[in-house]
Amino acid sequence: MFLVIGGAGYIGSRLVKELVKKEEVVVLDNLSASYQEAVDSGAVFVKGDLGNEEDLQMIFRSYPIKAVLHMAANSRFGNSEQEPLTYYENNVSSTITLLKVMLEYKVKNLIFSMEETTSEIPLTPSERSKYMVEQILVDFSNAYGLRYQNVRYVQQAKADESISQFEDDQVNHLTAAHLQALEALLVSETV
Ligand SMILES: NC(=O)c1ccc[n+]([C@@H]2O[C@H](COP(=O)([O-])OP(=O)(O)OC[C@H]3O[C@@H](n4cnc5c(N)ncnc54)[C@H](O)[C@@H]3O)[C@@H](O)[C@H]2O)c1
Repeated sequence: MFLVIGGAGYIGSRLVKELVKKEEVVVLDNLSASYQEAVDSGAVFVKGDLGNEEDLQMIFRSYPIKAVLHMAANSRFGNSEQEPLTYYENNVSSTITLLKVMLEYKVKNLIFSMEETTSEIPLTPSERSKYMVEQILVDFSNAYGLRYQNVRYVQQAKADESISQFEDDQVNHLTAAHLQALEALLVSETV
């Protein structure tokens, strides 16, 4: 079974629609930036928070999770420079809680979603918080054998496309990139 955190969101909900076609899926979302109606009815939905260890414990105890897709984001909050605490808490602190529980239940496969920045150096608290998570994943991989894939994506608008067509293409592209990353991770596990 796959756990999709943030699975009611813009990208997460589309990903869940594809995943339920071949696998059982649990969605954890606090609905801070989304609606439960967006979650495919074929998935189990749990309203809860990534940063709440009890919510995570309940899921890992109840379902045989083999991989986690971390799609939770702060998109409805304001500018990360004005609200760094929210970003560090939701991206860094909550992800550490997730990793801790994954280790406890020996779940080693993680897909993490990154918005690629144009700069080599992370410039905002939002970018820095994602960068920190990347470093944490490297260390957890070396120390605990965590297996992960960062899915990076740069938004590239095309002049001849309408906004809705562009958005649709973008979500399709992102969904496909996450599915490919997941497949690669699971295939390499069995080799
Ligand atoms: N939208 C894009 O163009 C794009 C591009 C590249 C990467 N990404 C990445 O993909 C991921 C998802 O982006 P999105 O556009 O779908 O965002 P979104 O805001 O639409 O979805 C995020 C979901 O996470 C949930 N959430 C937030 N904090 C949570 C928490 N603590 N616990 C449980 N649920 C929580 C929200 O309720 C929401 O349903 C993000 O990591 C983002 O950086 C998005």
